[in-house]
Parts: sequence; structure tokens; C-alpha cells
Amino acid sequence: MMRAVRLSDLSKTFRTGFWGARGHCALDRVSLDVPQGAVLGYLGPNGAGKTTTFRLLLQLVHPTSGAAEILGRPVGDPAVRHRVGFLPEGARFYDSCTAEEFLVYVAGLFGYPAAERRQRAALQLDRVGIGAERRRRLGTYSRGMLQRVGIAQALLNDPEVLFLDEPMTGLDPLGRSDVRNLILALRNEGRTVWISSHVLSEAEAVCSHVAILNRGRLAVAGSIADLDLDVRGWELVVAGVGESQLAACGIADRRVTSIADGRHVIDLPLEQPPERVVVELARRGARIVSLNPRHETLEDYFLRRVHEDA
Ligand SMILES: Nc1ncnc2c1ncn2[C@@H]1O[C@H](COP(=O)(O)OP(=O)(O)O)[C@@H](O)[C@H]1O
Ligand SMILES: [Mg+2]
Repeated sequence: MMRAVRLSDLSKTFRTGFWGARGHCALDRVSLDVPQGAVLGYLGPNGAGKTTTFRLLLQLVHPTSGAAEILGRPVGDPAVRHRVGFLPEGARFYDSCTAEEFLVYVAGLFGYPAAERRQRAALQLDRVGIGAERRRRLGTYSRGMLQRVGIAQALLNDPEVLFLDEPMTGLDPLGRSDVRNLILALRNEGRTVWISSHVLSEAEAVCSHVAILNRGRLAVAGSIADLDLDVRGWELVVAGVGESQLAACGIADRRVTSIADGRHVIDLPLEQPPERVVVELARRGARIVSLNPRHETLEDYFLRRVHEDA
């Protein structure tokens, strides 16, 4: 297995207070290996140290102790910089320029010759789905479109490793689904994508690996498949039956939510196996719309692990 990123006992203490008299340990001896081609969800509450980790990886701040490597070289190595892309948290761009102008400008900062800048900008804007709007001023863009422009910016140098700090924050469901699909496309191209998020459920949809950070310490790291997420029950959606028929099948009122078109969402506890309920409901003329296991969420898992750690 090739490693894309390795953190070895990485620590960062910020000096705060008068003359830096007090220290705040934002990252505490974190060791982590990210395999090449992984989509890593870097999860943890606000203030856990996620952004600090990215800043260390990009050399915006320097570690108090420990080290970080990208693609087998120390982070300071100039050869590595050209193989990395970065979307900062809550990035804002120049409102008065167009998406195209902005990307051409960034391509210039990367040092590409003038003829190549426009070409690279067009390529990446196409791939994030900013088409006809590329000549519109960024000030008129929605949050989701700006996030996609930010990702296009991070992709401009065709990087092997991408760091995306809170790429889903502030997006509506449609915007989140756009970003999700984009991340999956990047993964399919074999790139390594490291995404931070404080919303744990977002990670479940796109990540192959997770690392959970809590107050600067790594609580859990590994592939999602290796996490022992418990099944908590079942969610059954049915149509074509009324509340009295549901009650006759032994389904408690408080477990039923009525939604549009005469459908009901039934929350089945683990003790009530769905097989029997489905048969009884079908006998009374119900149509089964869907049946899904309700897993412990990453959030529950996180709370459980942090509790165990304590
Ligand atoms: N430049 C800084 N000076 C002092 N403290 C900082 C600085 N940057 C971050 N911190 C502190 O370090 C901790 C981790 O912050 P951060 O990495 O931004 O967390 P996250 O991105 O997970 O929300 C927080 O308590 C934050 O206040
Ligand atoms: Mg942050």
C-alpha cells in the first residue's frame, strides 16, 4: 500500500496570552497514515484541530513537534507543493471578477504560461459544472456554486492529493449532493481526498476511511468498513393502509410518522423483526415502499468511543 500522507506524532501548541505566557495544545501527538486513493473523512467537533492539521500540512504554521509527509516527502519539499490542492475553510473570492477570471489569475500564480492558464481554467470549470455562468461575477453566485469554484481552484494543478476543509458547510441539500458527486469522481480518478467535517453523517456517504479527532487527539482511525457500527432498528415505509390497520399489526402510534400521499414511516425497534411486520401489513393490503436498517450513526459511534476513551 502506497501512503499519500503520513502524520508522525504531530503536535501544535499555540502560544496565547500576554507574551505567549499560556499554551493551547490544538493538536496532540497525532499519528495517521492515509493510503493513496483513500477518501478520508476527518471528523470532530468545532475546535478539535482539523483546520490546524491542514495548516500544518500546507506549512502555513509549523509543528511544535513531530512531522508530516506528503507522497513520501517532508511537507516542506518544493516538489510536493505542485502535487497538492487545497480548499480553505469558508473560502471567499473576489466578488467583482468572474469565475473564469479568478481561475486564470490563480493559474498565473501557479506559474503556468499565459496560453495554458485559460485552458486549465476552462477544463476545471467544466468538470465542476460551472458552464455558462463562468462569465458571471462571483458576487452573484450561490454558496454551492462558490464552493464548486473553490474546488476547481484546488484542482487547477491536477493534484494527486486534495485537502478540502469543510467543503459541505453552508450548502443546501442540492449543493451537498453536487460536492459529494464531485468527490466520488475525484476518487474514481485515483486521487487521495482528505475532507474535514464537523457533521459526521456527511462522511458516511463518501468516505472510505475516517479519523475522529477530539480536542486535538485522535480517537479513532481506520476504514469505514472496519468500524463496528451497530444496527439500531429498521425504518419501514408503507402506503395503502390506515392508522387502525397499523395498530392492528401491533405498531405503536408513537412509532408512526405520516408523510405525503398516504404514506407512513414506521420506526421498528430491534425487538420487532421487520419480516413479520411486513407479512402482516401486506395481508392488510399495504404496499411496501422501502425497508432500511437504521445503523448507529457515526455521531453515536463518535460519542460512544469518546466516552470509552475517557
Ligand atoms: N492561531 C491560533 N492561535 C491560538 N489558538 C488557535 C489558533 N488557531 C487555532 N487555535 C485553537 O486551536 C484549536 C483548534 O482549532 P481548529 O484547528 O481551527 O479546529 P477545527 O478546525 O477542528 O474547528 C481551537 O481551540 C482554536 O481556538
Ligand atoms: Mg476548522
